[in-house]
Order: sequence, then structure tokens, then C-alpha cells
Amino acid sequence: MVPTPITVRVPAKVNLHLTVGDTRADGYHELATVFQALSLVDEVTVRPADQSGIDVRGDGADSVPTDSGNLAWKAVRALAERGGRDPEEPGVQLSIHKGIPVAGGMAGGSADAAGALFGLNALWRLEMGRDELLDIAAELGSDVPFALQGGTALGTGRGEHLVPVLARHTYHWVIALDSSGLHTPGVYGELDRLREGTHSQRASGAEPLLEALTSGDPRELAFLLGNDLQAAAVSLRPHLRRTLRAGVDAGALAGIVSGSGPTCAFLCSDSEDAVRVAAELSGAGVCRTVRVARGPVPGARIVGDDHAD
Ligand code: C5P
Repeated sequence: MVPTPITVRVPAKVNLHLTVGDTRADGYHELATVFQALSLVDEVTVRPADQSGIDVRGDGADSVPTDSGNLAWKAVRALAERGGRDPEEPGVQLSIHKGIPVAGGMAGGSADAAGALFGLNALWRLEMGRDELLDIAAELGSDVPFALQGGTALGTGRGEHLVPVLARHTYHWVIALDSSGLHTPGVYGELDRLREGTHSQRASGAEPLLEALTSGDPRELAFLLGNDLQAAAVSLRPHLRRTLRAGVDAGALAGIVSGSGPTCAFLCSDSEDAVRVAAELSGAGVCRTVRVARGPVPGARIVGDDHAD
């Protein structure tokens, strides 16, 4: 028996490598990316309720919508439709505890949608398999399938086609949060603007990075991190250049903007180094706050479900 309420833990992601291709007819950009799930997590609790609603707690909760505009609520509706259920009968209360930076380029909203799908599949006993959930996830947003899956994965299409990548080693990260978020479409738009009429600088293929992941040496990986969206995020937030420099000056092996930013992720040699870099970076006055994280970690998991950990 699954206990109610059900709490699902869902990870943030960082793109170790992100190549943005051309704009497609549907307005999305063709991507090739390597995702890694990090130990910064949101917790999404689902419980039956007379009246449906969303409450959000944690860092940045004030700027998260609690109405039908929340991607997690769209996930409730999509799952209900696929499962032949009325989402209001009985209703669902979604309680989200934010540990992932809001609008930070770490797929926090996607994580909440993945958590809602995974939790409600159990609460409503729909018994949908992984592939069916991934299918619904892909309709909700480019990063939702990866939040379900976790680990390390190669993503293509608009990011939703995933192939798991074997990465047995643990990497240690310092995450620098900015004082406010960036709007993802705006960052893609800025990249298009920067590329207009120029020979665009695109990150090279992901193969060398995939090879480095098999060695497990963070120094090798550091050298190969790359993100096409970084130039656009830095163009919109020029102070990120200082943040990125400060992390490396503090002893990180390398720093990149995470996804569409403005969060910056610094790869460190080991866990002690990550703590040292985090302490120095937090005193450098170049970001709002810092966190230490490791990756890869699993995707959406029911808290207390020993079989799934
Ligand atoms: O898929 P998702 O809703 O997360 O994407 C948010 C926005 O990011 C899209 O509306 C689009 O502007 C941009 N995007 C893109 N190409 C992708 C993924 C996202 O242009 N592959």
C-alpha cells in the first residue's frame, strides 16, 4: 500500500554540454545536450483534497505561480486526461518545497511537474509505466523527462529524447545563485540575436565529454564543459562574467552557466574542495548565495520508498 500523502523528491539538472542548433518550425531550437541530475532537490507532496490547490514553500517560493499557470498543475491535468480521471473529483493538493533555484536554469519548474506526475501516478494507482510517464512529460516541457529519469543522459530533439549515459563516478559542484531569475525564452532569443549575421560560435560535439565521463576524472571533464546559452545569459547579465571568474579564482576546476542561467555551476576536484570553494565564493560578493551539490543522483523518487533508492 502506498501511504498518503505521497512525497516525491526530484533533482535539479545542470547541462554539462549544451549545443543549440537552428530554430525549428515550432519555434524550439534543436538541441544536443548532456544532462546531469544534482543533489539540489524539490519535494512535491500530493494528497487528496476537497478543493484542488498548490502551495509553495522554500527559497524563491514567492515568485512561483500557485494557479493553473504552474507547470506542476498542467502535469496534474495531463495525467488525469491520460488516465481517464477528473482532476477535481476528488481534488488534489500539491505542496511544493523548493530547494532548486527558481528561474535559475536548473529546471526547477520541470522538476515539480515530474514530481506531480510521479506522485499522482502512485496516488491514483494508475500504474502507468516509465515510458508512458516520459511521453506525458515530453508534452509538458523539454526538461521534464530528464527530471523523471535523473542520472546522466544525452538529450536531443528539444531536449526531451533521452539516452542514459553510464557515469559511475560522483562529481562535486558549487552552485552560485543570482539575485533574480532569467526568462528561458528571452535567453534563447538573445542567442538568436547574437548569432544574427555572424558565424556563430557553437560548442563542439559531446563525444569527448562522454568519454571523459567514463574516466571519472573531474579535471578531464572540467576542460570539456560547454554551454551555447552561456554567451546569451552573460550578455543579459554581464556580472555573471565576474561570478564565473570568482569561482575559478576560488579553486574550482571550471565554471559554466547552468542551462539558460543565471545560476552558475562550478566543478570541483572533490567534496572538500567544493566546501572550500563555496566558502570563498560566498564571501566574494558576486552572487546571492551558494550551495554545494553532487551528481549524478536518481530522478523522481517517492520519499521513503526503499525499493526505488
Ligand atoms: O520546453 P520548455 O517549456 O521548458 O521551454 C521553454 C522555452 O525555452 C521555450 O518556449 C522556448 O522559447 C525555449 N526553448 C527553445 N528550444 C528548446 C527548449 C526551449 O527555444 N530546445
